[in-house]
Amino acid sequence: MTELEQELLAALAQAQEALAGVKDAAGLEEVRARFLGRKGLLPALMAKLGQVPAADKPAVGKTLNSVKQQMQQAFEEKAAFMQKASAVQSALDVTLPGRKRPLGHKHPITQVMDDAVAIFRRMGFIVADGPEVETVWNNFDALNSPQDHPSRTPEDTFYFGLEGDNWLDSETLLLRTHTSSVQIRAMLGKKQPPVRIICPGRCYRRDTPDATHGMSFHQIEGLYVDRNVSLADLKGVMAQYAREMFGNNVKVRLRPHYFPFTEPSVECDASCMICDGVGCRVCKGSGWIELAGAGMVDPAVFRNVGYDPETTTGYAFGMGLERTAMIRYAINDLRLLYDNDLRFLQQF
Ligand code: DAH
Repeated sequence: MTELEQELLAALAQAQEALAGVKDAAGLEEVRARFLGRKGLLPALMAKLGQVPAADKPAVGKTLNSVKQQMQQAFEEKAAFMQKASAVQSALDVTLPGRKRPLGHKHPITQVMDDAVAIFRRMGFIVADGPEVETVWNNFDALNSPQDHPSRTPEDTFYFGLEGDNWLDSETLLLRTHTSSVQIRAMLGKKQPPVRIICPGRCYRRDTPDATHGMSFHQIEGLYVDRNVSLADLKGVMAQYAREMFGNNVKVRLRPHYFPFTEPSVECDASCMICDGVGCRVCKGSGWIELAGAGMVDPAVFRNVGYDPETTTGYAFGMGLERTAMIRYAINDLRLLYDNDLRFLQQF
């Protein structure tokens, strides 16, 4: 083996050793320049080929090519290895803060419903349940609703299997128009007073959707039946509810009204929490916001469920949850609640 060949093989070994110690891109570049660069070791050795005796040239040339090839390959392998290592490293950057997973949460109506339920439960009410598909009897008849009440017509109520006048039949099925039907179920189920229930749930009416109406909406029904229950009890419960839901300064008033299932009937208002009762757009300048329909359970309703109207007294109330949510979150169009636009829903 010629001296030049020995030098070439030694250069290859040196390059391999130097490469093994390389830690970063700058180090690699430095070693590359030292061995393969224009003024590097390999070109210097190649220049010596001219001085090799003609007889040795083919063999030395062959060695040179092989060394050059191996050296280049060694550099390429090292570069590829480093690239791979750095890719793995950046994928596992332990200093990066963790990614936040988007977390679901309760719909604003559900939040208001849960809060309202919690408030009434603290006052001793038990949550009752009833189906959304109801009979005409539970939804209207037993609640003393006269057959010619406009809310009973198929223009206002969703009926199943409509045929002729069968929407007046007690057994016909409908989508409940209010949660008041659960009053009947609760009293029938309990057989005897006392009954103290609330029922949150979905109701349906054939309304044309607009900013304050939907075909489906939510109510909370309340019913307390016992002996010696008075309108003052109702007012106390409404006032406590309003304070807990809207704040301690809220006042409550009762206004005469009419419902078939209560006598006397009242509309329960809360002083406007937006303007503190002064008058604003939300309360339409009146200083009051409608909270619930309510009243003393009509003796006719007690008779329909087999309770003694002479000894039994009770109050009932029903309120819309969409309205409460709109006031609480300052939402000016009810349809926003049901469009399922995450940009809206994520705010709650
Ligand atoms: N059911 C009535 C409605 O849907 C609300 C209501 C009024 C419920 C008076 C009651 C009540 O329990 O006593 O508008």
